[in-house]
Amino acid sequence: MPASVVVGTQWGDEGKGKATDYLADRMDLVVRYQGGNNAGHTILAEGHTLKLQLIPSGILYPHITSVIADGVVVDPRVLLEEMDGLRAIGVDPSGLVVSGNCHMIMPYHLELERVTERFLGKNALGTTKRGIGPAYGDKAARIGLRIQDLFDEKIFREKLEIVLKEKNQVLTRVYGRLPLVADAIVDDYLRYAERLRPIVVESSKLIHDALREGKNVLLEGAQGTMLDLDKGTYPFVTSSNPVTGYALASAGIGPKHVERVIGITKAYVTRVGAGPFPTEEHGADGERLGERGHEFGTVTGRKRRCGWFDAVVLRYAARINGLTELFITKLDVLSGFETVKICTAYRADGETYDDVPPHQSLFHAAEPVYEELDGWTGDLTGARTTEDLPKAARAYLERVAELVDVPIGVVSVGPGREQSLPLSA
Ligand code: IMP
Repeated sequence: MPASVVVGTQWGDEGKGKATDYLADRMDLVVRYQGGNNAGHTILAEGHTLKLQLIPSGILYPHITSVIADGVVVDPRVLLEEMDGLRAIGVDPSGLVVSGNCHMIMPYHLELERVTERFLGKNALGTTKRGIGPAYGDKAARIGLRIQDLFDEKIFREKLEIVLKEKNQVLTRVYGRLPLVADAIVDDYLRYAERLRPIVVESSKLIHDALREGKNVLLEGAQGTMLDLDKGTYPFVTSSNPVTGYALASAGIGPKHVERVIGITKAYVTRVGAGPFPTEEHGADGERLGERGHEFGTVTGRKRRCGWFDAVVLRYAARINGLTELFITKLDVLSGFETVKICTAYRADGETYDDVPPHQSLFHAAEPVYEELDGWTGDLTGARTTEDLPKAARAYLERVAELVDVPIGVVSVGPGREQSLPLSA
């Protein structure tokens, strides 16, 4: 059986965990392919709620193997805490494995990100301050430490001491901070290593074998297309590649295995952190979307910026990721507006753009061109089929699918499983 990719089409927080949960029954492997503990999803299990940042939500299903693949940056302390947190609420995390090729987030990554974001002042990116950017930076600079390094103490210490020499120079001389001590880091990380050892695997072999045995593999991205390092609103992006193409590089499989690419799409748009956001609503409508949609970050608790649905972004995401279907989330949040808006193009510098503008400055200046549709009233959360939705809500969905030119597979109206409605043709 083939692989499917779940990918965020906007600026993250589209509800990818929800889609994974919906598809879980049919899946054997759920593979997280990038990011780190900058992402987050809330899970409900045994009457408890738990926030997970690294472990895929597939962990709730005993039949699923949850894989953290090469392209994820792992803070081992956070990973172990999440495993403990799961045990504490009665969820067995033994279905989890992690690739030995994953780069680790180290204490100096956290420290450096804190000081550099402060240093940037009003130009700060508004990162999640989890050390994600510095860890990916070291990976590209080939001075990163990988999980597999933990299992050769001599090598681990040697590599760490070399890196730390330079990091400590920067911390002390540029930022006036105290240096970090190698021995303390080695002690902590070797303790983590003992606990991690049983779950460390060569993940691409595992994934490939599963595909060969006819198993279903779901490749789950974090963040979203517009936060992609190459394809997003650079530099206001994350330091990895949420797009579909990277799912293959990280999992270590070829494109012939991928049959479905499911674009997770909020019925409106949110963004946390700095950067352009053409359909952002600064007034009452934005406030209302934020309140009704409970738009606060899972990781940092920050208030998310909110705005209307942006078909320009979605068309771009459809193209970049090769979307085969849309999974629309949070349609219920749009209830009660007299009219609902869809951005169909931008105006910038006297020109109209129906695609993402070719220059960052144009994207910053982009004014949305809106199409206004009739709104609807009533609580949609009780809908169990799309026939239960008001006519105007169905018209809204039809228009979205038409503008993006990708069919909608599922629309969701709440956090519960029964609130994911397959779209009848
Ligand atoms: P970083 O990923 O912590 O380096 O942050 C870079 C940018 O990506 C910031 O604007 C963050 O707010 C944003 N970001 C990172 N992870 C997420 C996420 O899971 N959802 C939404 N935004 C995110």
